[in-house]
Amino acid sequence: MSKTFPRRVFSGIQPSGNLTLGNYLGALRRFGEMQDAENEALFCVVDMHAITVWQDPAKLRSAIRELTAAFIACGIDPQRSILFNQSQVPAHAELGWILSCIARIGWLNRMTQFKDKAGKDREAASVGLYSYPTLMAADILAYHATHVPVGDDQKQHVELTRDIAAKFNHDYGIEFFPLPEPVIEGAATRVMSLRDGTKKMSKSDPSDMSRINLRDDADAIAQKIRKARTDPDPLPERYADLESRPEARNLVNIYAALADEEPDAVVASFAGRPFSEFKPALAELAVSHLAPITARIEELLADPAGIDRILGEGADRAAAIAEPILDRTREIVGFVNSRPAR
Ligand code: TYM
Repeated sequence: MSKTFPRRVFSGIQPSGNLTLGNYLGALRRFGEMQDAENEALFCVVDMHAITVWQDPAKLRSAIRELTAAFIACGIDPQRSILFNQSQVPAHAELGWILSCIARIGWLNRMTQFKDKAGKDREAASVGLYSYPTLMAADILAYHATHVPVGDDQKQHVELTRDIAAKFNHDYGIEFFPLPEPVIEGAATRVMSLRDGTKKMSKSDPSDMSRINLRDDADAIAQKIRKARTDPDPLPERYADLESRPEARNLVNIYAALADEEPDAVVASFAGRPFSEFKPALAELAVSHLAPITARIEELLADPAGIDRILGEGADRAAAIAEPILDRTREIVGFVNSRPAR
């Protein structure tokens, strides 16, 4: 590809309740840090993705506000960045349809998140859950975004977005969409469950003990870390020695990410000490990090109308970028666009 596109960051999070330490370390915290170095960054509460599985309407509404508050509490400034919810910008749905005609069924069949989420009874999954990645591609491409900060589990979806963009460009013979890059950085791009070091920490895990929620209080955080599964051995001399100890490695990674240290340095400073000493240090670190965020979320949630205003203004700014890109897409595809200007 020869055309260069101006750098633009886009990322999204589903408002499906229970934001976790994984969402924080893999995404939210990094967004706050990235924003300051960017000209233009868009952060989206992807409510249309959330309804690919059943959501109680009242709970969805409060989860949208809670996630918006969490973005702000983690450092997103809604004046500097564009913070909005997906359903208020129709370009996502419209481009999603066009891109679903570009993506191939075989490509979607390879998506591991669908396999995980649909479980054994795939026939009963919603069509939306299956075509979810084409909507995600539309989220990114509707803004000609070039960089997509995500946790490791979303890498496959961003790569699919590149494939869809490349096929669109090829089929229509025009370099119209950029091929966006996933940005996956830091010690905690894949935070694992506290109960099973081979499973990702997830807001949808039935066991609340498997995850730290952003809104857990200090006691809950300390208890979950104390009860986190480990093995009987003490911490080793080198991080590399944790390779076959997934639970222990996960706790070290979490510590390293929270403390902004290299995992090797964390292991070196606790070498030879048992997890009964490491865990209280980790709990203290987690609480000191999360407590101010939780307090700020609560404060912001006291003014739901203020949050809705931020989302509405963000949606207007987002639509102003997406609409001309959509107009051009319609033209490229061959649609007739003859409604009088509104
Ligand atoms: P979602 O809502 O599941 O997660 C939001 C972000 O949190 C990251 N994450 C994690 N990172 C590290 N360890 C974990 N255990 C962990 N769990 C979640 C995710 O990687 C993600 O970055 N499909 C997306 C939402 C989306 C999107 C987009 C993202 C929709 N459109 C466009 C980027 C660009 C999702 O379900 O994320």
